[in-house]
Amino acid sequence: STVSNTLEVDGALLPTPSRELWEKICNFQARPDDLILATYPKSGMTWTQEILDMIQNDGDVAKCQRATSTDRHPFLEVVFPYKRKPDLEIALEMPSPRMLKTHLQSHLVPPSVWKQNCKIIYVARNAKDCLVSFYHFSRMISLLPDPQSFDKFCEKFMSGEVLYGSWYDHVKGWWAAKYQHRILYLFYEDMKKNPKREIHKMLEFLEKTLSEDVINKIVHHTSFEVMKENPMANQTAVPSNIYNHTISPFMRKGMPGDWKYHFTVAMNEKFDEHYKKKMAGTTLTFCTEI
Ligand code: A3P
Repeated sequence: STVSNTLEVDGALLPTPSRELWEKICNFQARPDDLILATYPKSGMTWTQEILDMIQNDGDVAKCQRATSTDRHPFLEVVFPYKRKPDLEIALEMPSPRMLKTHLQSHLVPPSVWKQNCKIIYVARNAKDCLVSFYHFSRMISLLPDPQSFDKFCEKFMSGEVLYGSWYDHVKGWWAAKYQHRILYLFYEDMKKNPKREIHKMLEFLEKTLSEDVINKIVHHTSFEVMKENPMANQTAVPSNIYNHTISPFMRKGMPGDWKYHFTVAMNEKFDEHYKKKMAGTTLTFCTEI
């Protein structure tokens, strides 16, 4: 079953309600100083967004509290039913420098982003934890079909029949793109293991320096525990008929390795076998626990 406000583009289901809007996205005019944050769904976008916002505001928490995370930086392709206009239109009206978000596969990104040589930060998360997070997210968000059972959702994830399409194509496509474009490719698990080191990578990529004190402040403000309690970051401001946090909170576990509590031995074997085939021939590797 699909959702009425989605569109299929190149075999991937997108939360873009019309062809007209999709064409506008394709014709989107990027600016050279745009920063693009790209991830597959449930790979740590909200977390990375908060880190980048803190970096850009020199660790000023009050400035990052100016709006909720869904309102602070628009998506290229998402239309939130509770907002007055598509995110794209909000992006068009934003003053520079902008930070824009996307869950699109690299080959679907508006060409102008490449032409303008925009800096892009991509965050990837290991497939199993990403799948688990996506499963729980699908349960709590009313805009997606109910996943029914974990095993059924596993099958859909493996075949790419989920919102934004195949995880495998997504992480591989962006991995290949980084050899040709200004892309900083980061991993959720690295951010969890050593947030400071990953923040230093972001700073270098953004050609920015911050004091050790400010960096420590960023690590604290963007920790799972602090973000979970932050109403401007924990997504509780999204209307409850869209996000039902009582079914599963958006800030759920925030830990690598939670997949172990979800996969049966049989499903794990099946998944691993399929994974090997899909990821054969790539230099891209993931940690599935820390
Ligand atoms: P879990 O469901 O595994 O807990 P996205 O923002 O891309 O939708 O990703 C959501 C996932 O990132 C959720 O994973 C969420 O808990 C996790 N997350 C959000 N903030 C985090 C933080 N500060 N540290 C670690 N994980 C975080």
